[in-house]
Amino acid sequence: MQNSSASWRSLLWPWRSPADPDDVREARKAVAHLKPAVVITGGASGIGLALAQRFIEAGHETAIAGRTQSKLEAAAEHLKSRTGSSVTTILCDVSQCDALDKITAGLGGAGLYLDVLVNNAGMGLAGPFLSHSQADLSRLIAINIETVTRLSRAVLPDMLARQRGGVLNVASLGADVPGPNQAAYYASKSYVVSLTEAIASEYSGQGVRISALLPGPVDTAFHQEMGAEQSLYRWVLPSMSADRVARSAYRGFMFGNRVIVPGISNIFFYVALKVLPHTLTVPLVYWLLRRPNI
Ligand SMILES: NC(=O)c1ccc[n+]([C@@H]2O[C@H](COP(=O)([O-])OP(=O)(O)OC[C@H]3O[C@@H](n4cnc5c(N)ncnc54)[C@H](OP(=O)(O)O)[C@@H]3O)[C@@H](O)[C@H]2O)c1
Repeated sequence: MQNSSASWRSLLWPWRSPADPDDVREARKAVAHLKPAVVITGGASGIGLALAQRFIEAGHETAIAGRTQSKLEAAAEHLKSRTGSSVTTILCDVSQCDALDKITAGLGGAGLYLDVLVNNAGMGLAGPFLSHSQADLSRLIAINIETVTRLSRAVLPDMLARQRGGVLNVASLGADVPGPNQAAYYASKSYVVSLTEAIASEYSGQGVRISALLPGPVDTAFHQEMGAEQSLYRWVLPSMSADRVARSAYRGFMFGNRVIVPGISNIFFYVALKVLPHTLTVPLVYWLLRRPNI
């Protein structure tokens, strides 16, 4: 017999057949011997590491995936000293096709299964478009776009079958505006927000959280690594700590927000970018992202 909330759902979304409670029970039974875990890609540093700490503090089993063993070990030690809990570390390049197999194997070895995926690993490229090699642009597209798409597509069916868990995709406040001097990076984050909001709409009301996180500038090694530390935005725009971003992200995700913008000033910028025309915002962003000596 259908419960009343399922009947209401089928009224609201007539093209969706409500999940059979027996199927949901079966899907949950298949992982009953394992504990649910949050997996954070790029969780060995920056926002990913802060998110790992926040999820652990909230009582979630947590795993971090990254490409550098020494960084993963240092992150695990840091998290142990901060929270008193252990984190599972998974050495893998998440942009490779076998990444999910490696993640599943790493989790299985620790008696865990993937319940929540945080697609956080990403890279930026600063400077005019033609200053980037084809290889660098391909790497950016692989990690910022392809990986987020592939992993989301791969993990959502099981989450939907179990009617629990979710995907948190780390995008950027810059997703709403073209970013001259970081053109490919801004475009990639725009894709992430569009994809996430669309999927969240398609699968709403089915027990799975799907959210995009849109941080403004955050004090991590990210800017230095892409050579943007001297850009004007680093001096002009207020930066947040990764810890504050993680707290806001966790709250927003648990609340089921599709779009999470951490920080009051970023909410102001988010709204401004939505209402102001590109004829005004693009030159402003050009100026902010410009590197003075280049
Ligand atoms: N910092 C900001 O101002 C800011 C603002 C908005 C959005 N974001 C977004 O936030 C996310 C995290 O950035 P962050 O600031 O925390 O930078 P970060 O400290 O440089 O962290 C990026 C992490 O991703 C990992 N990573 C990169 N490529 C990977 C791959 N192919 N496979 C596995 N791990 C990979 C890196 O570790 P390994 O190199 O060791 O693998 C690193 O731990 C990114 O998606 C970024 O676009 C950052």
